Amino acid sequence: MTSVLPRTEWWRSAVIYQIYPRSFADSNGDGMGDLLGIRDRLPELAELGIDAVWLSPFYTSPQRDAGYDVADYCDVDPLFGTLDDFDSMTSRAHELGLRLIVDLVPNHSSSDHRWFQEALAAAPGSAERDRYMFRDGLGQNGELPPNNWESVFGGRAWTRTENPDGTPGQWYLHLFDSTQPDFNWHNPWVRRQFEDVLRFWLDRGVDGFRVDVAHGMIKAEGLPDWTPPLAGGSMGGAGTPEGGDATAADPAASRAPFWAQDGVHEIYREWRTILNSYDGERILAAEAWVDPLTDMAKWVRPDEMHQAFNFPYLETPWAAAPLRAVIDASISAFSAVEAPSTWVLSNHDVVRHASRLALTAENPQGAGIGPKSAGLPIPELGLSRARAATALMLALPGSTYLYQGEELGLPEVIDLPDEARQDPTWFRTNGERYGRDGCRVPIPWEANSPSYGFGPSDAAWLPQPAEWATLARDVQRHDDNSTLSLYRHALALRRAHELATGELEWLDSGADAVLALRNGDVRVYANTGDSAVPLPAGEVLLASGPLGENQLPADTTVWLRG
Ligand code: GLC
Ligand code: CA
Repeated sequence: MTSVLPRTEWWRSAVIYQIYPRSFADSNGDGMGDLLGIRDRLPELAELGIDAVWLSPFYTSPQRDAGYDVADYCDVDPLFGTLDDFDSMTSRAHELGLRLIVDLVPNHSSSDHRWFQEALAAAPGSAERDRYMFRDGLGQNGELPPNNWESVFGGRAWTRTENPDGTPGQWYLHLFDSTQPDFNWHNPWVRRQFEDVLRFWLDRGVDGFRVDVAHGMIKAEGLPDWTPPLAGGSMGGAGTPEGGDATAADPAASRAPFWAQDGVHEIYREWRTILNSYDGERILAAEAWVDPLTDMAKWVRPDEMHQAFNFPYLETPWAAAPLRAVIDASISAFSAVEAPSTWVLSNHDVVRHASRLALTAENPQGAGIGPKSAGLPIPELGLSRARAATALMLALPGSTYLYQGEELGLPEVIDLPDEARQDPTWFRTNGERYGRDGCRVPIPWEANSPSYGFGPSDAAWLPQPAEWATLARDVQRHDDNSTLSLYRHALALRRAHELATGELEWLDSGADAVLALRNGDVRVYANTGDSAVPLPAGEVLLASGPLGENQLPADTTVWLRG
């Protein structure tokens, strides 16, 4: 395939920083982060050396899934501010040279959305009901759900409605919480509404969209029953939202009838033409939990989306051989469709990598960790591995996603009190899965301020651990050995040495546990083993941790010149 596309588009090499609005910065002291809080902290992100920010949802929402349950796609929830605040934040980002990407949640709305309320009020078979996935139940009186699908958050994926006269009615599908009914994407009316939503935010100046559950919007014809295969040996296994076994010989063969259906691609082609009609290289980034990578690459064919999150990379353990394999597979799958590979280690849905990389028990995506989890990490080990893993990731060609707080080395918060937990996963599994609250705790800015500088008061919607004081940004800022300094130096070097647009070449490291590569004029050695190895010769540009006398210690990555 020959390309006429320029290779210099910003998103091919961008570092995109994920802001989780409720936990980033609170401007008014109510304990909930907000848009003005974000606006006023943007200079600190610009100083870190990122290119763009992606904001998780801030739209009108009853917050049953932290805003991934949208009740109005074209307004800001009063919890987070107003549309004027949004404009003010966007202008500030652009003044600082940062692009701004917002989240689009098209698989489902909130059950509070007017479109769903109208559907509930209308009769079975009506145009209003056809916006969503309503079906008659099975059994003599429709008392059984239409099929056996289970919700990603636990429990069944169907809820029965009540007719206006109080009798039980049809069922509706929700792949997530019962307050998140799935849209019927075969309905052209639904498609038109979302085209308007795209235009609304593009007209307001956003630089793109991160598309939520971009592998889920179309369901297989007839909604056939499906039983997930037994969990495999990987970190992801059957616990990933895709529900397939990432280690199986042919993951596509065991694919659920609600994930990765071919029909989704036509939607993204339509969206791409809309984005292309705007100036300034606006982008679509897919949250698509699809295995293998060669299938995921379909989401980023030249006329579809621009990027897809590289979850197979995120799910790879800290070990040289599987890392090398997934890096090769990523570069080859994405370059086959002329897309950049992306890299990511943390987000708001997974255990933070400063904890995850030192877990000793399986932890499927979304399960989280809490006081009773098996295989809890040793914090120091987790932090060394996280710093080494980040230093490796930032040397790879392509575009990289960072999640707020990872630049401070924040671990997962394990000991949240049960009554503080808010993730629907926790409730829908009766506490069997802790869920994702542990990676969503409001982040620390100042060691000696109330709520560690998250806001002007002590309030924080999830309690912050006392150790946050030592991890606060103002403490780390002037410490050359801090995790924040490591990120800042690595990002500056990545830019200076043009690593994001470079080519990767593997080198012989002389040890199985050590990954060695060259990207342009930088050599990178990552020691994933548990003992030190001799440090190769060369000027050290960056080290993820203290180096011994001519030694590359365990769980350490180093960048050398030349
Ligand atoms: C995506 C989001 C997650 C949310 C789910 C349902 O996976 O990242 O946070 O709960 O979709 O919208
Ligand atoms: Ca607030």
